[in-house]
Amino acid sequence: MDYSKFIARASEVFKASEIRELLKVVEARKVISFAGGYPDPQVFPRESLARIASDVILNYGDKALQYSPTKGVTVFRQTLLKYLKDNNVRISSNDDVIVTTGSQQSLDIVSRTLVDPGDYIITENPTYLAALTAFRTARPNIIGIPIDERGMKTDVLEEKLRNLKSSGIRVKFVYTIPVAHNPAGATMSSERKKHLLELASRYDFIVIEDDPYSFFVYDEADVTRLKTLDSEDRVVYISTMSKTLSPGLRVGWILGPQQLVDVFERAKQSMDLHTPTLSQYIAKEAIEKGVVSETAEKARRIYRVKRDVMFNTLSESMVEKSWWVKPVGGLFLMVWLPPEIDTKEMLPTAINEGVVYVPGASFFVDESGRNTMRLNFSYPSIEEIRSGIEILGKVVRRKLGR
Ligand SMILES: Cc1ncc(COP(=O)(O)O)c(C=O)c1O
Repeated sequence: MDYSKFIARASEVFKASEIRELLKVVEARKVISFAGGYPDPQVFPRESLARIASDVILNYGDKALQYSPTKGVTVFRQTLLKYLKDNNVRISSNDDVIVTTGSQQSLDIVSRTLVDPGDYIITENPTYLAALTAFRTARPNIIGIPIDERGMKTDVLEEKLRNLKSSGIRVKFVYTIPVAHNPAGATMSSERKKHLLELASRYDFIVIEDDPYSFFVYDEADVTRLKTLDSEDRVVYISTMSKTLSPGLRVGWILGPQQLVDVFERAKQSMDLHTPTLSQYIAKEAIEKGVVSETAEKARRIYRVKRDVMFNTLSESMVEKSWWVKPVGGLFLMVWLPPEIDTKEMLPTAINEGVVYVPGASFFVDESGRNTMRLNFSYPSIEEIRSGIEILGKVVRRKLGR
């Protein structure tokens, strides 16, 4: 039977993720994968989590296995707020926090509650693909602002805002990943952070700060959050325990003005009632017992070495006129290749040679970036990173006839 007549037109916005489709194809084959965004399983604090989970279920099972409030388990929200304060995230007296089922749900909630069809929103170009997917379900106009090694080019943003205003167009929000940008690897400079907040005030928009990576950086870097610099309560701060504890627990959050959090709470109620209670109790204990800080420290140690191996091997193996930013954190590096290269077209050759990556175009708002590829360095082993990048260097050179 053909079921298409039963499927709502509205579901057309849910396109299959190119990355997930790709991973399905390569799963069966033995290739070096730079395509995913998985943490290295050796970072997971297995023994501590096993002890915590057992303790939570045996001793607090009446509550931990029960339904819980949509906004999150109260004792976990208190622990989370303290954890954020201890990590220098400013929390204003007007703020509230809602626990979400991973920060992916935070993005979905933002999209469903803040965006009407035809609204204007702004992101970096490129930006996190799954954020684009979440925002697109609300059918907004998305404007992309280019990025360099100091993050979003706020001078370009300013010009764009001026032009939009003169056409009578208001921007709802600017979405940004200021630290260790996924996919570009860039970190926003403090001048640009200040500039962005000035613009938010002048042009009256909200800033959505997506910050999965600032809790473990590999080099000296100014990771002061926009949320901390914000004096007008314009920043909505999204983050997650996916990289500092375990993505499988699905614990993320949104910290923002009370009035917005109230709307987020109503939206979340119809999505999933609440984030798994058990995950929240485990996350609470993991914060309080220092397991989250230890895991973040372990991630920092392991990923720094891998980042360096990828960065150095790229410098040795890639053709001239390619460039990439050395990320101070996160899991990704984006390579801009000479314009003659189309990374989507090159992919089957790379897979045949034993390496898979994500062609960069889908991270771009306007599908530019055909000559880019996103490389993940957290999951593959050091040996795989070294030989995989060497193989990619050869594939690119061959494509260019060098
Ligand atoms: C920028 C960014 N936002 C959100 C997420 C989603 O994370 P979560 O596992 O919390 O849903 C990721 C994951 O890679 C990410 O890189």
